[in-house]
Formats: sequence, C-alpha cells, structure tokens
Amino acid sequence: MQDAGAQMITVHARTRAQGYQGPARWEWIARVKKKLSIPVIANGDIVSVESALQCLVETGADGVMCSRGTLGYPFLVGEIDYFLKTGQHKPLPTPIQRLECAKEHLQALYDYKGDRGIQQARKHMTWYAKEFSGAADLRNQLCAIATVQEGMDYIDRAIDGISL
Ligand SMILES: Cc1cc2nc3c(=O)[nH]c(=O)nc-3n(C[C@H](O)[C@H](O)[C@H](O)COP(=O)(O)O)c2cc1C
Repeated sequence: MQDAGAQMITVHARTRAQGYQGPARWEWIARVKKKLSIPVIANGDIVSVESALQCLVETGADGVMCSRGTLGYPFLVGEIDYFLKTGQHKPLPTPIQRLECAKEHLQALYDYKGDRGIQQARKHMTWYAKEFSGAADLRNQLCAIATVQEGMDYIDRAIDGISL
C-alpha cells in the first residue's frame, strides 16, 4: 500500500478469523511500523488514556484510533489528545455533560439519517446513560424512543433529577 501511494495507514491488529475475540495483537502493529516510512496508526483495544499510552509505547505507532471505547463516550478522544499534549489528565465529564452530549448526538443522528437515525440512536443513547442514580430507568426509556422529542424529554427529565 505504501508503494502504491498510501500516505498513512491504520492497522486493526486482529485477523478476520479472530473477529473481536481475544486481545488485539499490538506486536503486529510494531512489525508493520518497522517496515514502513509513512505514519502508522494503531487500532484495537484502546479504551482509555492508559491503554493509548501503552499501545503507543509497545508499537512505536504515530497515533491511535479508538473505536468501541468511544461508544457512548466520545470524550475519550479528547482525553487521550489532552494527555499527549499536556501530560495531565483532562477532568472527566459529569453525568450531566454526558447526557447533554447524548442530546447533541440524538439530534445529529436524526438530522443526518431521519427516522433510521432514531432507530440507531436507541442503542447509542443507552450507552450514554450510565453512572448516576436513575440511569437504568433512563436506559429502559431510551431504548424504545420513536422521536427526537421523546428522547430529549426523557434525557431532560433525567438531567433535572440529577440537578436536584
Ligand atoms: C459495531 C462496529 C462497527 C464497525 N464498523 C466499521 C466500519 O464501518 N469500517 C471500519 O473500517 N471499521 C469498522 N469497525 C472496526 C473498528 O474500526 C475497529 O477497527 C475495531 O473495532 C477495533 O478497535 P476497538 O478494539 O477500539 O473497537 C467496526 C467495529 C464495530 C465494533
């Protein structure tokens, strides 16, 4: 791919046969990195600042790509970036900030995909509703929403409950 003109490559270090079973084999990313002169981005099992740092050290990669770790938690990308730039941990988002982000995501999914976006939003919304009292109830409500307004109302009610 490099010889064909690729300017950067991301490697997910699992085989097709492996599926998502077992850990990503970061040592293979290190091998790819050694062979190439273009930037290599590491992917697979990067779910925290710590795993990003460990992966960068183990592979020598030029960057990381996060996937499942961002489900319901897009803040992860900013947290890794912040640590790499400052050496400090970014303050974690509060449950309310996470729910405000869920609302933005819900609206964006609808704007982009219409009713199909609402169906897809159901699972995403439940991934945001975590780690506060009443989160399980909110998850139950969000996994069946039919409209943006319904989702917004449930989330707003949960935010009001946390703020009390
Ligand atoms: C539900 C799901 C959908 C995915 N869809 C795509 C896709 O459309 N294109 C792609 O290149 N990779 C896709 N992937 C693979 C991810 O980009 C990534 O390589 C993989 O999840 C490993 O990273 P992770 O361990 O951080 O999740 C998908 C992964 C999951 C779990």
